[in-house]
Order: sequence, then C-alpha cells, then structure tokens
Amino acid sequence: VLRSPPALQLTLALIKPDAVAHPLILEAVHQQILRNRLLIVRRRELVWRRDDCRRFYREHEGRFFYQRLVEFMASGPIRAYILAHPDAIQLWRTLMGPTRVFRARHVAPDSIRGSFGLTDTRNTTHGSDSVASASREIAAFFPDFSERRWYEEEEPQWR
Ligand code: TYD
Ligand code: MG
Repeated sequence: VLRSPPALQLTLALIKPDAVAHPLILEAVHQQILRNRLLIVRRRELVWRRDDCRRFYREHEGRFFYQRLVEFMASGPIRAYILAHPDAIQLWRTLMGPTRVFRARHVAPDSIRGSFGLTDTRNTTHGSDSVASASREIAAFFPDFSERRWYEEEEPQWR
C-alpha cells in the first residue's frame, strides 16, 4: 500500500563565504544536506551585491554586528539552496546549530557551526527561521521560483 507523503516545507539555506572558500568544508555541508534527506529544489552560487545583502538582513539594522555581517556576506562567493522536507526549517536550523560559535562548539559540537564556525559572524551557514521569512528569503534569491508551480509541475512524482 502506498502512503501519501507528508506535505513538504521549503527553506532557504545559504553557505556563507567562509565555508564556500574551503572546498572540504563546502562539500561537508553539502553532504549534510544529502545525508539528512533534504531535497535540493534549487541551487545557485553568487557573490552578493551589498545592497541586496543589507535588505536581506534589515531586521538586524542597528545591531552592533550589522555592518560586519553585511561586509562579510558580500566578501566572496556564497551558495544558496531552496531545500524541501516535511520539517525543512527546523531540521536545517538544527543541523546548523546555534548562531554563536562558542555556544555551537559547546552545546552542539557536531553541528555544522559547531564543527566549522570561525566566529559569531563567520558561522558557515544561514537558515530561514519561519515560514514567513522562508518565503521572503526564497524570493530574494530565486525571484522566478513559484512554490505552487514547483509542486504541481516538478514534484508530482511524490504524490
Ligand atoms: P541571527 O538571525 O540572530 O542568527 P541566525 O543566523 O542563527 O539566524 O543573526 C544573523 C547573523 O548575524 C548570524 O548568522 C551572524 C551575525 N551575528 C553576528 O555576527 N554576531 C552576533 O552576535 C549575532 C547574534 C549574529
Ligand atoms: Mg536569523
């Protein structure tokens, strides 16, 4: 008997310049995505324009790390993914581990940030934190992507 699969949730994942710059780390993060059965829906590599970066992180405007964060994220190539999984947002955030490197190393040493994070800013990866931010963030990187069209036209083998 075929069971129908659970609905898929989407999230935006970024691999930040510190991790893209190191091929072994980049590959290790990519393997974490595959190993945990996150479906790669879209993927692209780019160097972020500073203005787009500022807009993306506008919720942090005024925080002490904002300028440093923007400079860093625009400093070299990044990789963006749309990932799908029934629990994509929480699963990816769990795989990443805590934001701050000290906490990541001690609370979740096997997480991506716990393993590879360099500093609170150069912390390897980004993940959307809610359904609303996932849809905003996916649109920022993949403006032509339509979740509905993807689900209806590319994903029907899942049903
Ligand atoms: P935040 O949204 O709080 O963390 P997360 O990436 O886990 O959702 O912060 C966004 C980014 O800002 C974070 O990944 C790295 C940077 N940042 C710092 O550089 N220093 C800090 O103290 C914090 C909280 C964040
Ligand atoms: Mg965040």
